[in-house]
Amino acid sequence: MTSSSQPPAANADPGDSVVATPVETAPPHALVVFGASGDLATRKLFPALAGLADHGALPESFTLVGVARTPWSDDDFRKAALGATATAGALWHHLVKGFRYVAGEYDDPDTFAKLSEVLTEVDKAIGTAGNRVYYLATVPDAFALVAKGMAAAGLTHPSEAGTFTRLLVEKPYGHDLASARKLDESLHACFDEEQIYRIDHYMGKETVQNVLALRFANAVFEPVWNRRYIDHVQITVAEEIGVEHRGSFYEHAGALRDIIQNHAMQVLALTLMEPPASVDAQGIRDEKVKLLRAIVIPSIEEAVTSAVRGQYTAGIIGGEAVAGYREEEGVAPDSKTETYVALKLAVDNWRWAGVPIYVRTGKRLSKRVTEVALQFHRVPHLAFGERLARELLPNSLVLRIQPDDGITLCFGAKVPGEAFQVRTVQMDFSYATTFPGANASAYERLLHDAMMGDPTLFIRTDEVDQAWRVVDPVLAAWSNDDVPLSHYPAGSWGPPEAGLLLERDSREWRTP
Ligand code: BG6
Repeated sequence: MTSSSQPPAANADPGDSVVATPVETAPPHALVVFGASGDLATRKLFPALAGLADHGALPESFTLVGVARTPWSDDDFRKAALGATATAGALWHHLVKGFRYVAGEYDDPDTFAKLSEVLTEVDKAIGTAGNRVYYLATVPDAFALVAKGMAAAGLTHPSEAGTFTRLLVEKPYGHDLASARKLDESLHACFDEEQIYRIDHYMGKETVQNVLALRFANAVFEPVWNRRYIDHVQITVAEEIGVEHRGSFYEHAGALRDIIQNHAMQVLALTLMEPPASVDAQGIRDEKVKLLRAIVIPSIEEAVTSAVRGQYTAGIIGGEAVAGYREEEGVAPDSKTETYVALKLAVDNWRWAGVPIYVRTGKRLSKRVTEVALQFHRVPHLAFGERLARELLPNSLVLRIQPDDGITLCFGAKVPGEAFQVRTVQMDFSYATTFPGANASAYERLLHDAMMGDPTLFIRTDEVDQAWRVVDPVLAAWSNDDVPLSHYPAGSWGPPEAGLLLERDSREWRTP
């Protein structure tokens, strides 16, 4: 076989770069961001849009219209967009010149009337062709209000056949099951479900999508992806950062709402769902929902023992002293908000019955890492004897989602020498080595998909609902104060109670 007919090696040299698939240029349209003077726009949206412009994914007939309460002019808005994207290329600088800004209150019909005028103007001046993508990036309390204002101004449906109107909604999507349903009702009163694109930026991460490729493009993994071979699953979303400047937001959220209900549930669903008939919006989302529905909803009493909550105290991260959660700006000195959660879940279906799924997340942990670890059963008989296999762990397959994206397979190998000693070694696949330079951000991917009208990576209403159903009893148990809030020093792996959750099952957390 000649080298050119061989597939690229998984650990190919950066020189053998495997080029990312080219992006399609989106159709002409105006993107309207509500909450455009806020943190999300500056940190995520402007850089993602500039990235799309640099990668050839934005058409020349594209513009951005910002809407917010801050009394900015068009020029202030353009400056903010440029300030957040210093290294962007020529097309972005050209596009920014046409950006518009509407200042106004969300309960004032004038705001939407002005927006409507501006949109008509940009259709003429820039050629955005009546196509609209709206993005709700305001505080969540304003989502329903903005939708109502848009509906009253006739902005929620395409004005002409052949044009499109879509609505992107940022998280958090509700505060609990009841409020999420209420929000859905308000949005559905103004938009059709097919127009709504709910964002979970984890779905935009290449390595989260790679869970599907790993499972369904390979004959080797799927046969062992079930209760016969897998002892348990551990999902970790660990962060080194604290709540930063978002203390007052986080006080009302907490780790369960901020990470578990959305990011962790999405990763869990992709890892455990059945193979879809096709990798399209309906195929994938139907299977995710089926899986989420199979998660056993704990009673409030069960939630007391299957969920641990913790909060960080002062500690050391990366050699630097950091404050405890209660000392953070915007946080009450006696706050009971959890910055750490560990949960034991069960999935009641043919494939996973009896396999515990442990999920944990926390801020100010020892290291930033998101991963899914599938731990296999031990071999039924160790022919080498326990003494020579002391360093042999059960096999595990770790899907490393970030920051060092890749896959690790841990297996036993013989230690060189006369004694038949075996120990665990690991085989690694690194995304960055095999696909160098493929670094589109999650927001870039999701914005582009919404512009192209592909809802596959967005969260459907029934998924949100199911995820809240799992989380709600835990919230209830905690609000009754039935579960003590444990503390852990910043820079550790969380409270000791999280360890006990697994110790009770004779298992332990991995140290990533
Ligand atoms: C956000 C949460 O959704 O995800 C933040 O609100 C969290 O609290 C962030 O820090 C983590 O995202 P990532 O991509 O850095 O893992």
